[in-house]
Amino acid sequence: MARPAVLITRRIPSSVVARLEERCAVEIYDGPDAIPASELSARVADKQALMCLLTDRVDRAVLDAGTGLRIVANIAVGFDNIDLAAARERGVIVTNTPEVLTEATADFTWGLILAVTRRIAEGERLLRRGEWGGWALDFMLGSDLRGKQLGVVGLGRIGRAVASRAGAFGMRVAFTTLDDEAAGGAPADKRWTRLSLDELLSSSDVVTLHVPLTPATRHLVDRRSLLRMRRRGYLVNTSRGPVVDEAALAWALREGLIAGAALDVYEQEPRVHPDLVGLENVVLAPHLGSATIETRTAMADLAARNVLAVLSGAAPLTPVVA
Ligand code: GLV
Repeated sequence: MARPAVLITRRIPSSVVARLEERCAVEIYDGPDAIPASELSARVADKQALMCLLTDRVDRAVLDAGTGLRIVANIAVGFDNIDLAAARERGVIVTNTPEVLTEATADFTWGLILAVTRRIAEGERLLRRGEWGGWALDFMLGSDLRGKQLGVVGLGRIGRAVASRAGAFGMRVAFTTLDDEAAGGAPADKRWTRLSLDELLSSSDVVTLHVPLTPATRHLVDRRSLLRMRRRGYLVNTSRGPVVDEAALAWALREGLIAGAALDVYEQEPRVHPDLVGLENVVLAPHLGSATIETRTAMADLAARNVLAVLSGAAPLTPVVA
């Protein structure tokens, strides 16, 4: 019997490819950039499984082209790049990679919190420009975290992992949850305070976003919400870019309505709003939340295990659409 065919849209660790090759015929797109949409549709036509990235749009056209597809395994926890309704209609299983990236993403979020409140990236830029004149008592002062409030928007797995690190920095935690947010993980710690979004925005010193991108969360942070934040407050986003209205954020940073922001995700990656690029009080990271060797390998491995399970007739391990 012919081995099932799998398309992988980007190079992944060879140990994971080897695991798939034991049972499948594997084709890997290894162009320098994300696979173009037309190429994705053409290559998926004779495949039973697609392993893809958050940069690949798996829309109706791709799903129509993949008439033999049984599974789309996203190598990411977010899945806003996939048309779930279209997959469901066609009986295609969709999986993501929860859990394995939670800790790496939470660590990175704290990296951004420290980078923006202690002006680490700004200081490094200044030093590299040769503008450092030496130590001074009042030079490049940031803001303490101890005794302040961390406002966590979205208490799924990553939100909880970020909140659970707050004690190490002497911060108290407030959180808000949205109805359609992905659940998962343990219940909230009893020491954490639940607030409405507006209460959280106006009372937190650092606001960190951990919601999935849905119609309800698109531009959740807009001019109105930025106006609610404290003037000494910071905004951190490691969720999805369109959760924040970048033009509104640039305006708030420029006008000094908030003290700073740190972003790992953008509305139109890899483009970053030009108004943000020129500002010193924003840290701009290139979508690195889960980017460790161990975590990215575990994500690819989980996606491969989902593919192997479904192709052998078993249930997927981490389904989004079963
Ligand atoms: C990264 O952004 C992911 O969704 O895994």
